[in-house]
Amino acid sequence: MKERLEALRQEALEELNQVADPGVLNDLRIKYLGKKGALTEILRGMGGLSNEERPIIGQVGNEVRAAIEAVIGEKQEQFIRQETENRLRAETIDVTLPGTKVSAGAVHPLNKVVQEIEDIFIGMGYTVAEGPEVETDYYNFEALNLPKNHPARDMQDSFYITDEILMRTQTSPVQIRTMKAMNGKSPVKIICPGKVYRRDDDDATHSFQFNQIEGLVIDKNIRMSDLKGTLLQFVQQIFGEQTQIRLRPSFFPFTEPSAEVDVTCVQCGGHGCRMCKQSGWLEILGCGMVHPRVLEMGGYDPNEVSGFAFGMGVERIALLKYGIDDIRHFYTNDLRFLSQFARM
Ligand code: DAH
Repeated sequence: MKERLEALRQEALEELNQVADPGVLNDLRIKYLGKKGALTEILRGMGGLSNEERPIIGQVGNEVRAAIEAVIGEKQEQFIRQETENRLRAETIDVTLPGTKVSAGAVHPLNKVVQEIEDIFIGMGYTVAEGPEVETDYYNFEALNLPKNHPARDMQDSFYITDEILMRTQTSPVQIRTMKAMNGKSPVKIICPGKVYRRDDDDATHSFQFNQIEGLVIDKNIRMSDLKGTLLQFVQQIFGEQTQIRLRPSFFPFTEPSAEVDVTCVQCGGHGCRMCKQSGWLEILGCGMVHPRVLEMGGYDPNEVSGFAFGMGVERIALLKYGIDDIRHFYTNDLRFLSQFARM
């Protein structure tokens, strides 16, 4: 019997040493140590042993069981270790791999210019006002001293929705809206950025929809020199300190006198180049002293207060500032164009 136990130990240990799978290990445990296993099977014969032999065989049996259990325990531990190792290896993060790039958007160049212009005027004490893009004929034209059939309406071909409602052709109606909202109280000091619409065919310098920034100041004793000083301050901040301006007499129905403002060419500094058509100057905005009738229609007494106003095209400023040659780049959403402004 002792030999059978020794043989069993030998056979079990050999077989266990080959095991490479936890499932097989469990099968072997049942095969050797289970209730109907090989060891139990042999020990069942102990009843036929003498009293002297029984404890000896019993002890050998225990040793065999302990030896087999020890090897199974070791194997189990080995499998657990192996599994942990495998899992750790599979879950390893290579911190040296390049990361997934999160591409952030950028502010559109036109909005960038609007923000910059707003900052400049806010720095001079202006507040930002807004008005509707769908506007009445009254605010867009009549209250700005452009009665029906006035020839100056031809300067701005319009998208009419009804006879009395249109897409605003300019941000100037916000002047009247602001004056009325202020109820005749001065001072008024606003700029108004916004989209405007005209029946133009799109080309390199025209678009049926574009952006303007309007400015309006009303107070006692506002003079043309205040307007000129304000605009000089503005252009030197947006185009550089060396920039100069000149005012040319012009006509707008809502200002008197009216002027067109030129800046020294942003490219050649005023010597003359292709950009400024050799003149040294670039036109950038219209302005003037608020017409007394417009002040009246806005609810102000022209004998008490005076004001100046100006209006500029944002696209034009952006074209000049960034040296862009076609206004359509702003609307076609080509990322090769737009992404250039991400870093500016
Ligand atoms: N609204 C004019 C336009 O669209 C621009 C303009 C000129 C606005 C003179 C003004 C101004 O406020 O005083 O052509």
